[in-house]
Amino acid sequence: MTKIQKKILITGGAGFIGSHVVRLFVKKYPDYRIYNLDALTYAGNLENIKDVENEPNYKFVKGDIKDIEFINSLFEEIQFDAVIHLAAESHVDRSITNPNEFIETNVLGTANLLNAFRDSNKGNFEGKLFYHVSTDEVYGSLGKTGLFKETTPYDPQSPYASSKAASDHLVRAYGNTYGLPFVISNCSNNYGANQFPEKLIPLFINNVKLSKPLPVYGDGNYTRDWLYVVDHARAIDEIFHHGKKGETYNIGGFNEWTNLNLIKLLCKLMDERLNRPEGSSEKLITFVKDRAGHDRRYAIDAGKINSELGWKPSVTFEEGLALTLDWYLSNDEWLESVTSGSYQEYYKKMYS
Ligand code: NAD
Ligand code: TYD
Repeated sequence: MTKIQKKILITGGAGFIGSHVVRLFVKKYPDYRIYNLDALTYAGNLENIKDVENEPNYKFVKGDIKDIEFINSLFEEIQFDAVIHLAAESHVDRSITNPNEFIETNVLGTANLLNAFRDSNKGNFEGKLFYHVSTDEVYGSLGKTGLFKETTPYDPQSPYASSKAASDHLVRAYGNTYGLPFVISNCSNNYGANQFPEKLIPLFINNVKLSKPLPVYGDGNYTRDWLYVVDHARAIDEIFHHGKKGETYNIGGFNEWTNLNLIKLLCKLMDERLNRPEGSSEKLITFVKDRAGHDRRYAIDAGKINSELGWKPSVTFEEGLALTLDWYLSNDEWLESVTSGSYQEYYKKMYS
């Protein structure tokens, strides 16, 4: 039997990025015991991590980070060496409709974890770490030039971004006030398998597949920096093991695309895969009302993680996108199960 060296709580491990982080840690570190805490909201799905559910170093814990009593009793029961915190409400459009849910989960939920981690360690943080997974959206919106650096002042523009910014501030404040050891990473837009089809890439894959309109917000000339989710998980692994405590690392794909150019590439690759005449999917592009307060451009300077930790993306965008399209096209059941039920109501409310 492998001797367990560390007990790690990963929150949000049934979600998109969390499931890739859980998989990487469970498989790569048999001597770590990984506890996956997730409330299984609309975005959480145990199917995302089915392949590790029977591993001896893995345990799923269903629970809500908003529930103070539950969180406190979990930390009393298990002495965690580290927390990797990903659980969050993560979709900007939903934060515009329902900001309070974002404040409750992303801000208060993070505070509950910080308090429980602080209290369970009773002032002795030797060998401990609180890793907070955050977003580049805390920095606001860029003009045509410039990149987000770790030193860029916070300027969040959406309720989602401001709730993540608030949680980042809390983590740093707990470091300063209580000596709680932490790292924070701020990553650009992720794409890959298991992303809930409310975000641009999986939503558009699903709509192309079903020959439904592709709702492009505003003029479509918004820019995002895209990173393959497995590379984000690799970066989290590097930072967790080799990052300096108390530091922030920006993670990005060195890979900027306007929405329209990305959508056109996606349409071309989908036509090839679905054996449709070239140009068929592009015809589905439909310009719709812009998102309120839509950030024009995000772009990350990932120089620090590259030079200090030697991390860089392992796949090109073309490779990552091809892997992603193939995954969605060969996982009909997953896509159908997550787009039935409440997704239909969400879709109608958002896009009709
Ligand atoms: P997601 O929405 O796919 O998954 C979130 C997970 O958190 C789900 O499994 C959900 O059930 C769980 N969750 C939500 N509320 C909870 C609660 N109250 N208690 C316990 N679990 C709860 O999100 P994602 O895209 O995987 O993002 C994960 C993290 O990474 C988030 O913190 C997000 O801010 C950050 N991030 C995301 C991106 C991106 O492009 N998706 C980029 C940078 C950073
Ligand atoms: P999204 O995937 O929601 O990520 P974020 O808002 O966090 O960057 O959106 C990516 C870009 O795609 C963003 O500029 C908004 C745009 N978008 C659309 O044009 N149509 C859509 O239906 C969605 C969901 C997004």
